[in-house]
Amino acid sequence: ESPENKKVYEVLEQVAEFYHSKLREDRKALDYLRDRGIDSSTIKKFHLGYSSSSEELTQLLKDLNALEIYARTGNVIQIDEGKYRDLFRNRLIIPIRDSRGRVVGFGGRLISGEGPKYINSPESDIFKKRELLYGFYEGLNYLRELKSALLVEGYFDVIALHQEGLRNAVATLGTSLGKEHASLLSRVVEKVYLLFDGDEAGRKAMRLAIPHLLKEGLEVYPVFLPEGLDPHDFILKEGKTALKEVIESSPDIFGLLREKIVKGYDVESSVKDFTYYVSFMKDEIKAYTLLSELSKLTRIPIEVLSAKMYRTPERSQ
Ligand code: GTP
Ligand code: MN
Ligand code: MN
Ligand code: MN
Ligand code: MN
Repeated sequence: ESPENKKVYEVLEQVAEFYHSKLREDRKALDYLRDRGIDSSTIKKFHLGYSSSSEELTQLLKDLNALEIYARTGNVIQIDEGKYRDLFRNRLIIPIRDSRGRVVGFGGRLISGEGPKYINSPESDIFKKRELLYGFYEGLNYLRELKSALLVEGYFDVIALHQEGLRNAVATLGTSLGKEHASLLSRVVEKVYLLFDGDEAGRKAMRLAIPHLLKEGLEVYPVFLPEGLDPHDFILKEGKTALKEVIESSPDIFGLLREKIVKGYDVESSVKDFTYYVSFMKDEIKAYTLLSELSKLTRIPIEVLSAKMYRTPERSQ
């Protein structure tokens, strides 16, 4: 770690603290959080903040003698000689930490006015969305203890689930799950529950995430939420006990497909999906065992299933 990066990390921490203190002064932002069911201990735990004034932030950075170094992160933009604009101005601030607990960037949610719903810090060598999972550091002890993760899509899903005691929830930063995310998870857990939004985009994201997780040797449990709901919505509507029940009653991906085949539901595509997902498994003995079970169940010779599996074009992804 270069001395320059060390300074950037220190400044990011101070800026997070600054935003956090500003939230207490902003009625609108506090009301917004209250209306979404987020309580004050959760606000503290995640160090949520609010960006109200570019001038005050600029002054803080001047006091820290860090204006130039901080501007290089792209979190503030120079608009004139000595004049900077906060990229997150008028947004609710979600500080994002790396797996070591250092603030590396921010997510900012619009709470009124025009603009994209969320923005994130720009990519840089300390803020790499491909390698970051929101909630990973905050939930690290629980991830280790439970050996399972609840993978959700949104920041607010993570925040709400942690508040309700499901402290092993993590999310990508609005990007699809990639191999680096899967590798990070495999360092601390064995099982990953996929709690994506109950919509077409969520189901598609789920299909794309599964191979990466299987390649890392993780067990994958798809959890399907009612149409139109994400985990946070589901908790607000049905409560945390209901969410826990849905999670605990969800079979793993192979159990799910086996069930569909047994029930005669979508048999052909379920057999295809089964062999497709098996092809990504890290443990070849487990993969073979699953295929022989499928062979018994469907009376399709295992050679045929394996041939099918290796014909799957996505195999090379
Ligand atoms: P809430 O309305 O705050 O509950 O958002 P959500 O998390 O339910 O939003 P959604 O399901 O639409 O998006 C999931 C995640 O995608 C968010 O948490 C963000 O990380 C990301 N995302 C959503 N909208 C945007 C956007 O407009 N820009 C960017 N860069 N990311 C977004
Ligand atoms: Mn603090
Ligand atoms: Mn969505
Ligand atoms: Mn959502
Ligand atoms: Mn949501």
